[in-house]
Amino acid sequence: MEPRAFCLLVLATSVQGFSSEANLTTYLMTDYDVEPRPVLDHNHAVNVTFDVALAKIVSVDALTQTFDTNLWIRMYWTDEVLRWNSSEWGDTNVVRISSERIWRPDILPYNSILPYAKNFEDSFATIYSDGSVSWLYPVTTRTTCSLDVTYFPYDEQTCTLQFGSWSFDGLKVDIFNKSATGDISSYKRNEEWDLVSFEVTRSVYVYDCCPEPYPSLTYRANLRRKTLFYNINVIAPCILMLFVSLFGTWVPAGCGEKLSLGVNMLLALVFFIQAVNAGLPITSRSIPYASQFFGATILIVAISVSFSSFGIMFHFHEVNLKKPPPWLKTLLFLPGYRIWERRCGKKNRVIPSPDSSDQLSMDLSDGESTDRTVSSCSNPEDEKVDIETGEEKQPLPEENNGSFLANIAMNLQAIKTTADDNEEQESLRDQWRALALQLDKVLMVVIFVVYGVVTVSMFTTLPNGLLR
Ligand SMILES: *[C@@H]1O[C@H](CO)[C@@H](O)[C@H](O)[C@H]1NC(C)=O
Ligand SMILES: *[C@@H]1O[C@H](CO)[C@@H](O)[C@H](O)[C@H]1NC(C)=O
Ligand SMILES: *[C@@H]1O[C@H](CO)[C@@H](O)[C@H](O)[C@H]1NC(C)=O
Ligand SMILES: *[C@@H]1O[C@H](CO)[C@@H](O)[C@H](O)[C@H]1NC(C)=O
Repeated sequence: MEPRAFCLLVLATSVQGFSSEANLTTYLMTDYDVEPRPVLDHNHAVNVTFDVALAKIVSVDALTQTFDTNLWIRMYWTDEVLRWNSSEWGDTNVVRISSERIWRPDILPYNSILPYAKNFEDSFATIYSDGSVSWLYPVTTRTTCSLDVTYFPYDEQTCTLQFGSWSFDGLKVDIFNKSATGDISSYKRNEEWDLVSFEVTRSVYVYDCCPEPYPSLTYRANLRRKTLFYNINVIAPCILMLFVSLFGTWVPAGCGEKLSLGVNMLLALVFFIQAVNAGLPITSRSIPYASQFFGATILIVAISVSFSSFGIMFHFHEVNLKKPPPWLKTLLFLPGYRIWERRCGKKNRVIPSPDSSDQLSMDLSDGESTDRTVSSCSNPEDEKVDIETGEEKQPLPEENNGSFLANIAMNLQAIKTTADDNEEQESLRDQWRALALQLDKVLMVVIFVVYGVVTVSMFTTLPNGLLR
């Protein structure tokens, strides 16, 4: 075959095909009315088979309670007017006509918050020679979705898309699901949510206004929040901060940084809770889990900071030193720690013996002093008695020489009394410091236990399967 003849042949067939389709379209559209339903018997309903493919979940916004999705809408129905004998039209059994030129069911999402026209996209409808029409179009919808953030960030949400004909009742346009689930074969993963299922149910409503049934299809997208992000960015720092403040109780009370560490932790936690709450709806229906967790942490850290200041107060207890009240000791030493005794055993101090005043002169002449170790935590009252008995026992020298010595002895006695007083003060101070130390230990154990209980109870009361 010559190239020229071949070209002509191709041209001829294409012209033939095109003009056949063009003629067919012209034939079909002549006297076609877009408004009336395409049924020959007006008692018949137009049965629309409806299907939705979920292409992408654009966003699930808890703040505005909206659900943005990219959907591919598919509708199939029979147009009894648009029929032709394909053998009369060069075996053309399918034509595509711009959908606004034919009748189409006004099926749209009831819970959309976009204007009516935005739920429709003008696209070509495919028409077969037997009159069946398939109309597919992509659409981005924004529908309402009431999110319950009680278990945030371990929550599951169900967002629904309810489709139905806006102006036709079930006797005029009936709507059926194509399958038991929506199509998710082309679904693109969302970064924040896992799509668990996308199911459909058909329901028929009879509204107060009118006796006719209104069928609709409800697609339920079951979504599960991916928790890795929140575990790493929210929960883990929260737990870490708690541990920092927990071990912060070990910072000695004498070190001034103790309070500022605790207060910094509090500030950081409050900042965190603000950041987390920024993405949550302002609802008083329920307190999200994350907020509960933060709240518990903040409370525990706040209490620990408050008690730390008590510890610091104990540590720097200087003026009008009294013995620590017994109940405080009982309370703090209840947990069974006996660091008090340990401290006593270790921390002995070398002081001149309190009841050796007779020997004082001799010791003085000898140029050395007898030393006695006295436990720093021996009861100061016992010491007082000792001092008193010592004073009673003290004989006053009467000789010439003796009066000088007596003078010295008296002065020494005065010095000794002061020293004893100091010793007593020191002992009391030690007691208070030991109390402060004990308070910190008890605090740490209590916080650890309370926080453990809070954390475990919170995570075990989560509904089954939410914690992954
Ligand atoms: C299409 O219609 C034109 C006239 O309107 C006619 O000349 C032509 O032959 C038709 N083509 C086919 C394939 O029927
Ligand atoms: C539509 O569906 C109903 C129930 O399935 C059936 O009775 C009716 O014949 C169908 N109508 C058409 C036009 O197919
Ligand atoms: C279609 O047209 C052909 C030829 O004109 C005819 O033989 C056939 O019976 C027609 N078919 C129908 C269903 O009308
Ligand atoms: C329509 O959905 C229901 C479930 O709601 C299902 O039982 C039924 O099989 C579905 N219809 C078709 C044609 O798949």
